[in-house]
Amino acid sequence: MTDSQRQQLIAAALDVRGRAYAPYSKFAVGAALLAETGQIFTGCNVENASFGMTICAERAAVFAAVAAGCRKFTGLALAIAGGHSPCGACRQVLAEFADDLPILIVDAENPSSVVEVYLAELLPGRFVFTPK
Ligand code: THU
Repeated sequence: MTDSQRQQLIAAALDVRGRAYAPYSKFAVGAALLAETGQIFTGCNVENASFGMTICAERAAVFAAVAAGCRKFTGLALAIAGGHSPCGACRQVLAEFADDLPILIVDAENPSSVVEVYLAELLPGRFVFTPK
């Protein structure tokens, strides 16, 4: 990721966070995924009255990218209050498409605070399906 791509990715994650639908938790999350093509795909959390139907921001971004034909990614920015890490389910979904993705975690309450982590350190021993 170039510096300019990092800044674009962070801006996109903060922007899409503003469109999160989170009336139940009131916890808005935005994710922006950089594809190898240079395209940026975004996602926000979308909650539901049936709570388990909620989709996280990161998975929404991955699914939008895959639906657009992109499956290779070079970076993710996550805009989240408190600068928290992606949930376990999203880590597994991200790992399907990127062995070791750099993740920029932006504290949405203090956007100048950006912490870079790597997917491989967040999810050692991801599940891999090996058919018999
Ligand atoms: N959430 C995300 O969007 N991404 C995560 O990695 C963790 C949690 C959302 C789901 C729910 O709408 C809200 O944050 C509170 O859990």
